[in-house]
Amino acid sequence: MDHKHTGRLTKDGIRIHEAADYAGMHAAGALASRILDDIAAHVFPGTTTGKINEIIHQMVDDAGATSATVGYKGYQHASCISVNHVVCHGIPGDKVLKEGDILNIDVTVIVDGWFGDTSRMYVAGKLPRKAERLIQVTHDSLMLGIEAVRPGNTFGDIGHAIQTYVESQRMSVVRDFCGHGLGRVFHAPPNVLHYGRPGTGPVLEEGMFFTIEPMVNLGRPETKTLPDDWTAVTRDKSLSAQFEHSVGVTADGVEIFTLSAADTFHPTYG
Ligand code: MF3
Ligand code: CO
Ligand code: CO
Repeated sequence: MDHKHTGRLTKDGIRIHEAADYAGMHAAGALASRILDDIAAHVFPGTTTGKINEIIHQMVDDAGATSATVGYKGYQHASCISVNHVVCHGIPGDKVLKEGDILNIDVTVIVDGWFGDTSRMYVAGKLPRKAERLIQVTHDSLMLGIEAVRPGNTFGDIGHAIQTYVESQRMSVVRDFCGHGLGRVFHAPPNVLHYGRPGTGPVLEEGMFFTIEPMVNLGRPETKTLPDDWTAVTRDKSLSAQFEHSVGVTADGVEIFTLSAADTFHPTYG
């Protein structure tokens, strides 16, 4: 593929993008986010994860965009749909959603060569009390991580903000998966860990684009990958949740590329 890269790389191999590049990320992020806004109406008991994925694929096509996940390392689908104790990379299929199931839907699109990557939690039917707390804590941990994004802070500051909050709520942060740099590529340096120590790791600079996507478990943090080589589940079968935004470091803070125009990133459950 012929990528037209802009900017420069830091000594850690992290790309510093140019001012004009934010608009490309914004457009890609807005589409991914709009798809997640619109898919909410299609999540209900009795539907399947395969049907939800089919609708997402159609939305990507209708927008004239490209799914980043179809064909990625052999992955075949336009989304990952991770239900209950599935931590991430759940493969859409004939699984029927039942009342009270919670699910993460993760969509990555390519618009004019720029990647927009975001995920949120949904519920089929009425949200169980325990899941509500897990979802709230996971969402809030992401937003606390984003609040730590500004030039001069470090990636360790982001991880620390997430970890200390999650553990204060007696939940655990998954260590086996992390966020990532992105831009004109899907996955680039650095690994964005959702745990860490203040002041450690690369220093944040204006022009860095990356995701923050904490996975939080009600039980222990360990995961295992099923024989399909994709589906990651909690080893102890406890419930898991995840939220993901794509962000850029600005001169004085952060720009979230995947904000919800409908303001339903964290859906309020009725
Ligand atoms: N969107 C996921 C992420 O947040 C990656 C999915 S890769 C796939 O990085 F192949 F599983 F789709
Ligand atoms: Co991601
Ligand atoms: Co994602």
